[in-house]
Amino acid sequence: MSVAIDASIYARRRARLAARLGKGVAIVPTAPECLRNRDAHYPYRYDSYFYYLTGFREPEAVLVLVGGDTPRSILFCRDKNAEREIWDGYRYGPEAARTTFAFEEACSISELDTRMPDLLADRPAVQVHLGSDPVWDGRVLGWINAVRSRARSGVAAPGDLRDVRVLLDEMRLIKDGHEIALMRRAGEISAAAHRRAMQTSRPGATEYEVEAVLQHEFRHHGAQAPAYTSIVAGGANACVLHYVENNAALADGDLLLIDAGCELDGYASDITRTFPVNGRFSSAQREVYELVLAAQAAAIAAVKPGAHWNTPHDAAVAVLAQGFIDLKLLSGTLDAVLEQESYKQFYMHRTGHWLGLDVHDAGEYKTGGEWRELQPGMVLTVEPGCYIRPAPGVPEAFINIGIRIEDDALVTEDGCEILSAAAPKSVADIEALMRDRHD
Ligand code: GLY
Ligand code: MN
Ligand code: MN
Repeated sequence: MSVAIDASIYARRRARLAARLGKGVAIVPTAPECLRNRDAHYPYRYDSYFYYLTGFREPEAVLVLVGGDTPRSILFCRDKNAEREIWDGYRYGPEAARTTFAFEEACSISELDTRMPDLLADRPAVQVHLGSDPVWDGRVLGWINAVRSRARSGVAAPGDLRDVRVLLDEMRLIKDGHEIALMRRAGEISAAAHRRAMQTSRPGATEYEVEAVLQHEFRHHGAQAPAYTSIVAGGANACVLHYVENNAALADGDLLLIDAGCELDGYASDITRTFPVNGRFSSAQREVYELVLAAQAAAIAAVKPGAHWNTPHDAAVAVLAQGFIDLKLLSGTLDAVLEQESYKQFYMHRTGHWLGLDVHDAGEYKTGGEWRELQPGMVLTVEPGCYIRPAPGVPEAFINIGIRIEDDALVTEDGCEILSAAAPKSVADIEALMRDRHD
């Protein structure tokens, strides 16, 4: 059945977008359902842009936002269908969708092709998301051509075709109060899952058992799904950045790297913790771990309004590069290691990304050729790491150590708030929590 919706959140966002449309029209469809095999579908996930503007979670829906002096939002959605609702469950239908989600108008998705040419007639611009689905692109161009074919009756087709993501990405970059509350809660749930994973891990357990604990904790607290495929990587598997097999046994003396976060009402969290399977860091593991933790602290200290996007990354790289020299993983001066980027042998990814409805969220990282300045309301991850694969000259004790520490940071007026802070990360806190599990 339907759930309580605060439609004003989405109506406000539509009003903000409409104010930027002039007399143009924006068309934002939701995502298609996706077949997994034969009659089985992948779990349905709505399109993030569509959801941001509507809060509407059903498939087969399109938002049309008509700009001008009195903007109108029109939802096209599935009709009520007594037969289908017996099989698949409740669907709003246009009338209930209109009142529940505060659209000016709602109609059947079956009317989309006949209504669109009228809605585009005499409109100077149409803003859509082009280039990801050729069938959808063709449909939009078909509506524009249908208007053009009426030119002799004095109707003008839109001359300006734009990417609606340019406007929406800027909006999505600064989170509003509703989004921040959800992302705080998603961070808490995911942090609790990481704590449980630490308490579950022991030699002889398997990566998939630990993954199951994470999933249980997500769903137990009402999160709908993992925000991305969980990485549960013991020992050398942690040096595979996108390891998702999660099928190996955990060995005494190895580290376990877990990169996992839930999605709550559309919003992602993204947390990585690395800890010893047996609950005690070896001295080599601890040395590398403390280095990555120091790099993360330096990066987090750089997350504040006015800092450039790249400043936290540069701060992390400077700490890691010096650490690699100190640990004799690299030779040469700090300047040479930075200049030649030889640190990339052990740290080859970026230190973060925007976070929100998508785990790698919408928003440009540069504007006008310069790294973007951080502003209050932006949310980003801070995730330095170190991955030591076997190679000539690498000290034996460090081989196959893979460590990443990842937190989610909300930029505030004077720094940042760590949304994932409840997941332990100091050596002392991790060892204390894991000691408790033996009691
Ligand atoms: N879990 C995806 C990422 O860290 O970017
Ligand atoms: Mn991440
Ligand atoms: Mn991650």
